[in-house]
Amino acid sequence: MDDDTLLCRFMETHLKRRGYTVSTVNSIADARAALGQGSFDLVFSDIRFPDGDGIEFLRSLRKDNNPILHIMMTGYGSVSSAVESMKLGSSDYLVKPFTVDQIDVALERLETWKRISNENEYFRRQQAEQQGTQELLGKSEGMLRVRSLIERVAATNATVLIQGESGTGKELVAGAIWSASPRRNNPFIKFNCAAVPENLMESELFGHEKGAFTGAYNRRDGRFQMADGGTLLLDEVSEIPISLQAKLLRVLQESEFERVGGNKTIKVDVRILATTNRNLKVSVEKGEFREDLYYRLNVFPIIVPPLRERQEDIDLLLQYYLQKHAGQYGKPPPELSPECARILRSSPWKGNIRELQNTAARAVILHEGNRLLQAEDFGIVASQSVPAATTAPASTSPAAASQSPGAPVSTLDQMERQLIEKALAQNKGNKTHAARALGISVRTLRNKLHEYRIADSGQDGDDEGDAVN
Ligand SMILES: Nc1ncnc2c1ncn2[C@@H]1O[C@H](COP(=O)(O)OP(=O)(O)OP(=O)(O)O)[C@@H](O)[C@H]1O
Ligand SMILES: [Mg+2]
Repeated sequence: MDDDTLLCRFMETHLKRRGYTVSTVNSIADARAALGQGSFDLVFSDIRFPDGDGIEFLRSLRKDNNPILHIMMTGYGSVSSAVESMKLGSSDYLVKPFTVDQIDVALERLETWKRISNENEYFRRQQAEQQGTQELLGKSEGMLRVRSLIERVAATNATVLIQGESGTGKELVAGAIWSASPRRNNPFIKFNCAAVPENLMESELFGHEKGAFTGAYNRRDGRFQMADGGTLLLDEVSEIPISLQAKLLRVLQESEFERVGGNKTIKVDVRILATTNRNLKVSVEKGEFREDLYYRLNVFPIIVPPLRERQEDIDLLLQYYLQKHAGQYGKPPPELSPECARILRSSPWKGNIRELQNTAARAVILHEGNRLLQAEDFGIVASQSVPAATTAPASTSPAAASQSPGAPVSTLDQMERQLIEKALAQNKGNKTHAARALGISVRTLRNKLHEYRIADSGQDGDDEGDAVN
C-alpha cells in the first residue's frame, strides 16, 4: 500500500514474478477494505497517506492481534518512523528508493523466520499433545491429594519438587502442572539429569560459546535458555553433580547465568519443576547435595504415593491400559474373569505403574478370542489344586508367591529379570537402548541390574542420547 501508484505497480510486478499473490491499494481506507475481504500474510506499507498515517494503521493491526507480517517503506530522512514501526511489531523496513534485491533480502528473511516459527509451533503442539494425552488416573485418597496440590500450585510460578519411587508418575505430574499453568503455551523443556554425562551437563544446561571446548564449533543455547518464558523440568535432580550445584542455585535465585566459555550474563524467566526418586534430604545429610539448593527446590513438595499405597487405583489403571493396548493392537479389550478381578483387588501389587502397563500389554498380546483373562495372564499363578487363593488371598500375591518354595511360579520379579536380560541381549548390552526398549530410565535399569545382579558389560552406550527426551 502506497499512494504512489508507480511504486505499487513496480512492486506488484516484482512480487508476482516471485510467485506471490498481490493486491495493491493507495489509501488506508482501501487497505482496511482489502484486509476485511482477503487473507494476507504480509503488508508493505508507506507511512504517509492522504487519509491517514501508516504507523496508526500498524498500531490498529496489532491491537486486533492480527498476525499479519509488516514491512514499512519509509522515505529517506524518516528513519525515526522506521524505528517506531519496528517497536510496534513491524518485521523490517525498506528505505526508498530501494532495489528489487533489497525486497528479496527482506522477503527471504521473513520466509526463514516464518518457517522456524511454524516448526516451533509444530513441536510445541506435538509436545503438548504428548504431554496432554495421558491424564493422571486414580481416585484413591493419595491421588486426590496429589491432584488438588497440582491444581493449586499450577497457577503460581513456584518451584515444585516432585518426589516418589520409580514409575509412580512423577513426570506425568510435572506435565500436569505445566499444562494447567499459565505457561502452557510456552515451552516445556525436559532435562534428565541422570542421562547426561557429568562433563557435558554444564553446557547442556547453560549452553556454550563457540570454542569453549574441543568440539564446540558453534555457540549453543542450553536448556535454561530454551525454556525462557516457559517451564524447565529437571528430571532426577539428585543426579546433578555437586560441582554444578552452585551454578544451578544461582540461576534459581537470580535467574541468571553465563554460557560455558562466555562472560556475558544471560537473564531468563523460567519456572522450575524437579523430580527425584531419591530422598534428597538424605543426600544432603551425606554431603552429596547442597542444603541451600535443596531448600530452593523444595518450595512446594509433592509426594507421589506408590501404587501399593493406592490399591483402589489398580483396577482403573488396568482397565485403562487393557483398553489402550487393545486399541493399539486392533483387538477388542479383553475382560477379567471374576476370580482374576478378585485376586487383583485383594493382592498388593508389588510393581509400579510402568510394570502394570507392560503386564497389561502382554496380556492383550497373548489374549485370543473372547476368553476371560485369568490371574496367570498377569504373571500371577493361582494354583488350581491348592485353594490358597480363597483361604489366604495374600499368598497369591506376586509378593508372597516368590516366597513360597517349590511352587511353580513365575513371579513379576522373574518376568522382569527375563525381560531385562532379553532387552540387553537384543541391544547387544547397550543399556541406553535396552532401557529405551523397556520404557524405563537408564538409571532405573542400572538399579535393577544391581538388584538382580545381572552381569553388567559396562556398556552404557550413548547415554547423552536420553537427554533429548
Ligand atoms: N496416575 C496415572 N495414571 C495413568 N498413568 C500413569 C499414572 N501415573 C503414571 N502413569 C504411567 O506410568 C508410567 C510411568 O510414569 P512416569 O514416567 O511419570 O513415572 P516416574 O515417576 O517419572 O518414573 P521414573 O522414576 O522411572 O522416571 C508412564 O507411562 C505414565 O504414563
Ligand atoms: Mg521419570
